[in-house]
Amino acid sequence: MIQPSHTAVDAFVVHAPGRVNLIGEHTDYNDGFVLPMAIERGVTIAVTRRPDSVAVFRSEREAGASPLDLRAALEPGRSDWVRYPAGVLAGYQRLGWEIPGFDAVITADLPAGGGLSSSAAIEVATATVIETLCGRALDPLDKALLCQRAEHEFAGVPCGIMDQCAVTFGRAGHALLIDCLSREIRAVPFGGVDVALLVVNSGVRHSLADGEYARRRAECASAAAALGCGSLRDVTPAIWSAGNAALSDLERRRATHVRSENERTRAFVAALERADWPAAGRLMDESHSSLRDAYEVSCHELDLLCEIAGAVPGVFGCRMTGGGFGGCAIVLVAAGAALAVMATLRENYQAATGIEAQMFATRAAAGARVLPA
Ligand code: GLA
Repeated sequence: MIQPSHTAVDAFVVHAPGRVNLIGEHTDYNDGFVLPMAIERGVTIAVTRRPDSVAVFRSEREAGASPLDLRAALEPGRSDWVRYPAGVLAGYQRLGWEIPGFDAVITADLPAGGGLSSSAAIEVATATVIETLCGRALDPLDKALLCQRAEHEFAGVPCGIMDQCAVTFGRAGHALLIDCLSREIRAVPFGGVDVALLVVNSGVRHSLADGEYARRRAECASAAAALGCGSLRDVTPAIWSAGNAALSDLERRRATHVRSENERTRAFVAALERADWPAAGRLMDESHSSLRDAYEVSCHELDLLCEIAGAVPGVFGCRMTGGGFGGCAIVLVAAGAALAVMATLRENYQAATGIEAQMFATRAAAGARVLPA
C-alpha cells in the first residue's frame, strides 16, 4: 500500500536503532510471540542526492566506496556488508520505484556481530532513505517485510520478522509485543526509575548464516508437521499430549522450548504491567535455561555471563538476547545497583575468560526515522 507523499529532499540524515529482545526467543518463525525493544544505539546514514543513478555507500568501518548502478536490477551475490542495502534497493526496484542516485555515509555505534540487529538497522535505514528520496512511503509493515526479504535473499539468513519490525516500529519507553501470526503489534510500557536494562557483549561473534539458525527452523517445522500442525503455534495442549510421544527427542525439546517461551512471553508482559520486576527477572532466567538446554543456541560465555549476573545483588534476571551462539546478554537490574553490577560482571567475566566485556545501559528507543535538520 502506498501512503500519501511527503516532500522529497536532497540532503538528510536517517537513524535506525538496533534492538534487544526482552523475551520470546526463536518464536517469531514459529508464528509465536516476541517482545523486542529498539535501543538507543544504532546505525546512522547521512545522504546526499546525486544527479545520476548510482548509489554509493561508504562506511566508517570499511575502506573504499561501493557504487551500485540503479539502472540495472540488483541481484544477490555480494558477500560484503553492502549486500544489506543492495537487498533493500532491489526490493523497491521490484515494486517499480524509480530510485534516484545518492551518496550514503554510514556510521554505527552497535557492536558488529553483537546480535543487536545491526543488519536489520542497515536494512530499515536504507528503506527510510529510499522512501525519503522518493517522497513516498510503504505501509510500515510492508517496509519491514521487504527488509526481511532482503535479509533472506541477499544475506542468506532465513530470519523471522522480529528484528525488522522492532527497528521499524520501536517506540521510546516501550517494548513491542508482536504476535507473529496475526502480526498485531502492541506497545507495552517498559522502564521507569526503579529498573535499568544492561546490554553486555560476550565478545563472541555471533553469526546466523552458518546453518545452525536454519537448522533450528527446520527442526521446528518438522516437529509441527509430525503433530499435524502448520506451525508450533497451532499445537494445543490436547494435540501436544496426544502426539508428542511420536516426536524424536530433539524435536520434542525444540518444540518444548517454543511452547514454553510463548507462555513466558505473555507472563512477562503481565509482570511488566504490574511492575513486578522479580517475576519478570525469573522469566528471563527460565528463558535462558530453556535456550541453553532445550534449544541449544547459547554458548559457554553467555551462560557464564548469566551465572555471574545471577549471583549479584540487585539483579532480577539475565538472558541471552537474539539468535544466540554468541552476541549479547541482557540484564534486568534495580536501577541503584546498575553500576555495581557492571563492575562485577566486567571483573569476573574477564577473570574467567580473558575477555573484556563491553556493556551499556539502554532505554527503549524510537524506530527508524529521518533526524530533524
Ligand atoms: C535472529 C532473527 C530473528 C529471531 C531471533 C531469535 O535475531 O533475525 O528473526 O528469530 O534470531 O529469536
